[in-house]
Amino acid sequence: MLTCRFRSLVVAAFAGGAFLWLAPGQGWAQREEVVKAGRPTYEQYCAVCHGPTGKGDGGAATLLTVKPADLTQLSKKNNGVFPFWEVYRVIDGREEVKGHGTREMPIWGAEFRLQAGSGSPVTESHVRGRILELVHYLESIQEQ
Ligand code: HEC
Repeated sequence: MLTCRFRSLVVAAFAGGAFLWLAPGQGWAQREEVVKAGRPTYEQYCAVCHGPTGKGDGGAATLLTVKPADLTQLSKKNNGVFPFWEVYRVIDGREEVKGHGTREMPIWGAEFRLQAGSGSPVTESHVRGRILELVHYLESIQEQ
């Protein structure tokens, strides 16, 4: 009787543990997919200024009057919280980057819209998707 109760406890604990172990794992593959999709966009459009690993040391950095931001420090600079929507708005371009009179950073939202063609809802979703992939990629390269 005792062993039987003990056994069912073990089974329940194991099942619970397996559930907890599986639950976050299910979202992980999708997250990886989104982050992976953002990387080539980063390499194509951002690395030239922000550097291959985001440290702000890209080849074009020396040509700019303002140093490109170190994109691995965004969480650190924001009390350990990744400023997701602020980053989105900066890339989108409707948000001014800091207090400088001129904007050295290109307006990517406009560039992606231009590439996508017509201003249909599908195009807008496509552009938002590209920006979101980029933001998720940047979130994945944050230093703790
Ligand atoms: C022509 C060079 C250049 C390119 C290309 C570029 N950036 Fe920037 N970016 C800058 C500069 C310069 C700053 C800093 C501006 C400032 O501080 O006033 C900046 C700032 C930022 C910031 C704000 C960081 C902060 O501290 O708030 C983000 C986020 C960012 N860039 C993301 C990107 C992404 C993503 C791409 C590619 C789609 C990109 N940048 C491409 C030059 C560039």
